[in-house]
Amino acid sequence: MSSVTAAPDTALLRETATRRTFAIISHPDAGKTTLTEKFLLYAGAVHEAGAVKSRKVARATTSDWMELERQRGISISSTVLHFGYEGWRFNLLDTPGHADFSEDTYRTLCAADAAVMVLDLAKGLEPQTLKLFRVCRDRGLPIVTFVNKCDRPGLPPLGILDEIRERIGLDPVPVTWPVADGADFAGIVDRRTGELVRFSRADHGATVAAEEREPLATADPRGCPPDRWRAAVEELELLDLDQGELDRDAFLAGRQTPVFFGSALANFGVRLLLRGFAELAPAPGPQAVEGGPVAPARELDEPFSALVFKVQANMDPRHRDRVAFLRVCSGRFSRGMTAVHGRTGRPLQLKYAHQLFAQDRETVDAAVPGDIVGVVNATGLLVGDTLYDGKPVAFPPIPTFAPERFTVARNRDSSRYKQFRRGLAQLDEEGVVHVLRRPETGDQEPILAGVGQLQFEVATYRMAAEFGCEVTLVGTPWRLARVIDAAHAPALRGQRDSVVVTDREGRVLVLFTSPYALRWAAEDHPEVRFAELGVARREA
Ligand code: G4P
Repeated sequence: MSSVTAAPDTALLRETATRRTFAIISHPDAGKTTLTEKFLLYAGAVHEAGAVKSRKVARATTSDWMELERQRGISISSTVLHFGYEGWRFNLLDTPGHADFSEDTYRTLCAADAAVMVLDLAKGLEPQTLKLFRVCRDRGLPIVTFVNKCDRPGLPPLGILDEIRERIGLDPVPVTWPVADGADFAGIVDRRTGELVRFSRADHGATVAAEEREPLATADPRGCPPDRWRAAVEELELLDLDQGELDRDAFLAGRQTPVFFGSALANFGVRLLLRGFAELAPAPGPQAVEGGPVAPARELDEPFSALVFKVQANMDPRHRDRVAFLRVCSGRFSRGMTAVHGRTGRPLQLKYAHQLFAQDRETVDAAVPGDIVGVVNATGLLVGDTLYDGKPVAFPPIPTFAPERFTVARNRDSSRYKQFRRGLAQLDEEGVVHVLRRPETGDQEPILAGVGQLQFEVATYRMAAEFGCEVTLVGTPWRLARVIDAAHAPALRGQRDSVVVTDREGRVLVLFTSPYALRWAAEDHPEVRFAELGVARREA
């Protein structure tokens, strides 16, 4: 194992400075998939737009449980896409769009340094965007806003800025500005140069088109109704008077959001967004570690360390294996290296490491801070685990959500009991659902806990598809959970309107039918502390 070197590893720092590790957050249908596809087009990662969509379809047809995504028209899984553009290396973390998967999204956002928030010009801030925004804010992630679908009639763009300011408290600073919208859409103005980038409907965004720029002051409004053209010019004047300058520090501190306009579908304004994002977004920096003031951060050029932020099994039915996703936090990762697994203190050889491009796997030989590596079949790795080389380090645990829904899982075929147990243990480890056990029924009829009904549907689906177990879900009266000290478990058994259970980590939980039941228990047992489970709370 290497030791801390005195001289900074400038090559590593230089390479890390090119990394942009980020996520796109949006309400379903705002255009996240389309935008991702266009990013990849610029990166040369795909050669023709449509590839991501067809990937979506291909994925749904080749992967068993992703069939559920297709049926429900939702995105459940998170993948990581890697691409380069003009010297930058982007690691794009794909987050599931559905509200029921906020826990998975939260874990994924723990690995990101920044986010792009996509809004539909016609809809503004939608509920799921707001929820995801709050998660980003809690994580301190700087956010760049992309207002999409300018080729369609939309809301007044000044109104969108007001909404951002009033509803999420960010100060929006437009970098580009649209001239009209819908059928009148003439293009966007780059406020940094005062130039108009003209929109053309001829190209449907399937290829990387050159930008036609001209000074707005002398540009011909051709095709755009004069009143709409004038309105855009006046808005721009107003912005110049009214709007504060874009201040990168204010953006990094989560006070400002740079705003870009465009049309992902028409591949318009996307290059400006990608370049603007790359210039503004932070490169990976030192990571805060546990241990307080003595060891406040792991510096980038310290020996290798990484955080496991996601574990997923059976992503690809051709391989049927388990992938642990690591974000490299410091030092260099090299395939075949041995690192210490923080939780167990055991050495672990990182032999099978991949970068994933949807279903396709590419072996990773080296990675630097900010990069995401998928380690295959490292069975002991769990979400929140730290790996390190050299000086021991631990990253703060990834917060979990307090479960709000509970259901009993019943195995329909007793001859498949082993598979039933194994399957649920796997889903519990991945965090698809939390599996709770009552002493009376043990592994036979565990209680599944989660924040959304869809989590249970995914669990049942995967139990059948991957473990050959048909599971029936039975409703329960439980509505909230509290953690207690194990010593108090016997006293709480038999308490009205509650049940005592244990989770995978051996914690003792009490489930209650209502807040009143919790209050009665607290009154009957003043000596017991009923702690909330999970640090993060799902937004209502
Ligand atoms: P999502 O991943 O955020 O859920 O959204 P997605 O990109 O799948 O886009 C949702 C719909 O919005 C798609 O239409 C897509 O073509 C359309 N769209 C995305 N960006 C733009 C844009 O800039 N302008 C316009 N006019 N439409 C846009 P769909 O009909 O659901 O799918 P498809 O038939 O086009 O594939």
